[in-house]
Amino acid sequence: MGTSPIKILIVDDIGETRENLRKLLSFDCGFLVIGEASNGKEAVALTKRLKPDIVLMDINMPVMDGIEATRIITVEAPMSTVVILSVQGEQEYLREAMAAGARNYLVKPFSVDELINTIRKTHDLEVQRRARIMPIVAPQRKLGRVVTVFSTKGGVGKTTIATNLAAELAKRSNRSVVLVDLDLQFGDIAIMLDTVPVRTIADIAREEEVDSEIVEACLFTHDTGIRVLPSPLRPEQSEIVTGRHVEAILGLLAESFDFIVIDLPQGLADISLTAMDAADIIFLITSLELPAIKNAGICLEIMDALGYEDDKVKLVVNRSSKEIGVDIGEMENALKRTVDIHIPSDGRLVVQSVNKGVPFVLSNPTAKVSLAIKDLARIVDPQSGGERTEKGGPYCEGISPRRRIAGMFAGIFSFFIHG
Ligand SMILES: Nc1ncnc2c1ncn2[C@@H]1O[C@H](COP(=O)(O)OP(=O)(O)O)[C@@H](O)[C@H]1O
Ligand SMILES: [Mg+2]
Repeated sequence: MGTSPIKILIVDDIGETRENLRKLLSFDCGFLVIGEASNGKEAVALTKRLKPDIVLMDINMPVMDGIEATRIITVEAPMSTVVILSVQGEQEYLREAMAAGARNYLVKPFSVDELINTIRKTHDLEVQRRARIMPIVAPQRKLGRVVTVFSTKGGVGKTTIATNLAAELAKRSNRSVVLVDLDLQFGDIAIMLDTVPVRTIADIAREEEVDSEIVEACLFTHDTGIRVLPSPLRPEQSEIVTGRHVEAILGLLAESFDFIVIDLPQGLADISLTAMDAADIIFLITSLELPAIKNAGICLEIMDALGYEDDKVKLVVNRSSKEIGVDIGEMENALKRTVDIHIPSDGRLVVQSVNKGVPFVLSNPTAKVSLAIKDLARIVDPQSGGERTEKGGPYCEGISPRRRIAGMFAGIFSFFIHG
C-alpha cells in the first residue's frame, strides 16, 4: 500500500534470530514487524490471521518445516509473500522452497542492506503483479449480486432509486448491502443519506494496491445498516479512479456483501460500462418523455450488442403517470418490449425524504412509490419473501414477460412520425 509500511511476519525457531531480525527491521520505518512464529504451523495460522505482506521463513523448524508452511501459505493465504531464510549448504531445500511458492530467499548471514533490499524488491514486484491480475481474479470469486442503476439522462431518478433500493434490500432480507456511488464527478449518495464522508473511492485509487482492507476503510455505515462507498468530494479527484480500480473494488465487495447496488452517472462512459459488465442486473431508468424513450431504445440496442443477457436488463419507468407523458402502451410498442417496473411520481414524499436524509422506503413503507421499490427489490432478491403479502397499486405491475428488441429504430421512428 502507498505510504503504509510493509507488514512482516518473522518465522524462525530460534528466539535470538527472531530478535535480531526484529532489531534490523526496526531501523527502517518502511517496515513493521506484526508478529513472530517459531514453527511452520504457527506461521500458517498467524499469516492467515495477521495477513502480513511478507513472511520471512526459516527452513528447518520443529512441528512443521518452512517448506511445507510456504506451500500452504501460497495456496491458502496468497496475499502474503514468502521470503526464505536459509543457511549455506541448503541449496536443495532452497529449490524446493521456491517450487513451494517462495518468491525470494536470503542466505544467512546477511547484511541489513541485503535484508532490506530483498524484502523491498520482492514486495514491489508482488504489488505490480497483483495490480495486473487482481481485476481478473477478483470477479471470479464473486458471491454477491451486483445491481446497477443506469440511464442515458440525468435527473430521471437514478440516485433516488439506488438509495431506496439499497435500503429496501437491507430491510426486507436482512442481508448485507453496500451502496457504491460511481457518479464520480457529481455523486449525490452521501448527501441523500445526510452524511459527509471522511474517505471516498478516490482514497482507494490512491493506493498502490486495491485490497479489502483499504476498501473496508473507505466505507461508512448508514443508520439503515447499509454500507456506503462514497464518490470523491470534488470532481477533479475523480480522474484517478480507473475502470481497473472499479473492477477490483466490485470484485472485493462481491466477496463480502450479498448485494452491491451501484449508482451511475448518466451516459455510457468507460467506468459505467465496467460496472455494467460486472452487473447481474441493470435497471435502465427512463421517464415518459420522448427524448428519454428514444435514448432508452438506443441503449437497449447497445446492451444487446454488448452481449448482455436478455434477463440482465430491466426497463424501469420512473415518475410513471397515466395523465402526463407518453402513453405506456405506445412506448412499449415503440421499444418492442414491456416495461418491467413502473415507479409512480410522488414529489412531496421524495423531496421530503431527500431533505431528511431518510430513504422513503423506511419513512413511508406503504406509499405507492415505496411499494414500487419493493418490486425492484423482489427482482434483485427473489428468494426473500419480504414483508409484503399483496401487490400494491396500479403502478406495481411486477415482472412482465420479456421481449427482445428487433428493428428498434424502425419502431421508434415510425412511432414518432405516424404515432
Ligand atoms: N418517483 C419520483 N417522484 C417524484 N420525484 C422524483 C422521483 N424520482 C426522482 N425524483 C426527483 O427527481 C430529481 C432527480 O432525481 P435523482 O435521483 O437525483 O436523479 P439522477 O440520479 O438520475 O440524476 C430529484 O429532485 C428527485 O427528488
Ligand atoms: Mg444521480
